[in-house]
This record gives sequence, structure tokens and C-alpha cells, in this order.
Amino acid sequence: MVKAVVLGAAGGIGQPLALLLKANPLVTELGLFDIVNTPGVAADLSHISTPAKVEGFLPPDDGLKKALAGADIVVIPAGVPRKPGMTRDDLFKINAGIVKDLAAGIATTAPKAFVLVISNPVNSTVPIVAEVFKKFGVFDPKRLFGVTTLDVVRASTFVAEILGDLSLSKDVVVPVVGGHSGVTIVPLLSQSSHPLPAGFAKDSYDTLVNRIQFGGDEVVKAKSGAGSATLSMAYAGAEFAAKIIRAVKGEKGIVAPSYVSVEADAAGGAALTKELGQELAFFSSNVELGTDGVTKIIPLGKITEAEQTLITAALPELVKNIETGVNFIAAAY
Ligand code: NAI
Repeated sequence: MVKAVVLGAAGGIGQPLALLLKANPLVTELGLFDIVNTPGVAADLSHISTPAKVEGFLPPDDGLKKALAGADIVVIPAGVPRKPGMTRDDLFKINAGIVKDLAAGIATTAPKAFVLVISNPVNSTVPIVAEVFKKFGVFDPKRLFGVTTLDVVRASTFVAEILGDLSLSKDVVVPVVGGHSGVTIVPLLSQSSHPLPAGFAKDSYDTLVNRIQFGGDEVVKAKSGAGSATLSMAYAGAEFAAKIIRAVKGEKGIVAPSYVSVEADAAGGAALTKELGQELAFFSSNVELGTDGVTKIIPLGKITEAEQTLITAALPELVKNIETGVNFIAAAY
């Protein structure tokens, strides 16, 4: 029995994400919470012939608590998306408060749930959830994940495009590490399951890295004011949630990049810190998943000089983003 809950379920990401979770036969219950429209979304999804029982909740009458009761996995896409010209950090002012309140709800109602944070800026909202959980004495670093899967999905797609065969994209695996915004997104293309063509030019490499880092901007621009990536994000979020569910059900050897606390695995976290040459409370790296969440943080391993340059550029930004999240909660409580 698996209960999945989506917080922000009526939104651009929330609705297709709820659809994909409803389509997952391993999900037996689906709780939908938003400040608007969840009864309609739930009624609509409830007619789909898959096992999950769907219920929608709004804030009155303890709706958040009711949605979260008994949750095994909680996915959070609540908050405002970017408009053209905005960075993910511009969203902080609004989304930080939303995520803080939702985290407090999880801490009191479903403290053992696996929590997957989609709301941007992920580099700061994940530390916010961690700090709130610490305040409530329920922080388990193995169970908190920043969803960076869209960067991984984009890397697979763009590499398959370069290889001239989109049907490869489901098999192309590129570890994307660091964080989830601009220069903090670091694709380790040298570790791609499908190497780039021999003689791939330096400027083509730079263009590819830039496209993976700023792929979100392509969508923001194309939607011209109507939001950011929603459908590809819902796909990516559902893929990552499905991996967690399969791991929790006992499947072994599932590995995916995610933005996690380095405390989630002391030995792996220490090895990663050594590679990075500095302490960082959160970092996105390949993690191995098990029944209790993160079982292993997998260090970066062998990377190229170009990738090292990208990591070096990412670190100061990540430090700042993490601090912003931690300071927000220190000031709030
Ligand atoms: P949206 O505006 O379409 O939907 C957001 C939903 O959150 C709305 O339905 C809204 O009513 C709801 N909401 C607002 N305050 C709430 C609260 N206190 N409790 C519950 N629900 C609340 O936005 P969209 O496009 O779905 O994006 C959501 C978030 O996901 C944004 O922060 C966006 O930047 C982020 N995002 C993250 C990505 C990633 O790779 N991690 C990729 C794309 C977007």
C-alpha cells in the first residue's frame, strides 16, 4: 500500500504529476492538496481505471492534515513559477514561506514520509524543509530529496538529439550534479552511458552544457509569461517518485541524482566533501535508494578538467543558496 500526496496539486505541474501518479499501479492512495481546485482535479482523476483512491483537499477544515494523513511520499510543486527575465532565486520571497508552512504540516502529520521538493529555488527550499524538520525534531536526512530529475531528463534528451536518435533518450544516462539553477547544474557528460561523438568540438560541448543548465529558460521564453516547465517537470517528478516507490518496495540498485543532505550517508558524504574540497550541507549527486531512502551518496568519481571548472563555478552559488534557506528559517522561528 502506498499513499502519495501532492501539495500544489491544482497547478501547472501538480495536475499532470497527479495524473502520472494516478497512472502508477504501485500507488494505492493519492491525496491532493492546494489552495484552489483540488476537489475538481480529484473527481476527474478518480474516474481513471487504476488502483489509487483519489481525494482532494482545500485549506479549510484541516485540509492539509487530512491530505497528509498516512502519507508515504509527499511531492511539493506548490508555489509560483518564473516569468521571462526571472531567475529561480527571484521566486524565493514567495515560495520560501509556502514551503515552510507545508513542511510544518508534514512534520506534524507525516514525519516519516519521503519528501520530494520541486518548488523553486530548490537549492534553498530543500534546506528550508530540513530546518523546519529540525525545529520539530523529525529531520531524517535520508528521506528528504530536492528533485533535480528534470536536468537529468533534459541531458538525456539533448545527448540523444546530438547522437541523432531520440529513441536512445530513454537509455542515455548522464549524471547531473551540483544543484538546480543555472551554473549550479553540472552535467558530467564524460560519464554519459552514451559518449558524445568522437571529436565533439569544444564550442559544441559548451553549447550543450549551457543548454542543460539553462534549458528551463527555453521553456519560460516560449511560454512568454504563462509560466515555466510543467509537463516535462511532471514527467521528471513522476519518474523520480516511481524510483523512490520501487526502492521502498525492496527493489535494489536504484540510483538517481538528487539534491540531498550530505548527512544522508556519512561515509559517502565525507568522500564527496573531500572531492569538492569544501564542506557543503547539500549537494546533488548520484544516490542509491533503499527501503529507508538514501542508502548511499555516490561521490563524483573521475571527472574532466572542464567538469572540474563547472563544479568550481557552482560551489560559491550553492553555499549562498543554502545559507539563504537556513537563514530564512532561523529568522522565522
Ligand atoms: P503554478 O502556479 O501553475 O502552480 C502552483 C500551484 O501551487 C498553484 O495551483 C497554487 O494554487 C499552489 N499553491 C500556492 N500556494 C500554495 C500553498 N500554500 N499550499 C498549497 N498549494 C499552493 O506553478 P507550476 O508551474 O506548477 O510551478 C510550481 C513550482 O515548481 C514553481 O516554484 C516552479 O518554479 C517549480 N519548478 C521546479 C522545477 C524543478 O525542476 N524542480 C521545474 C519547473 C518548475
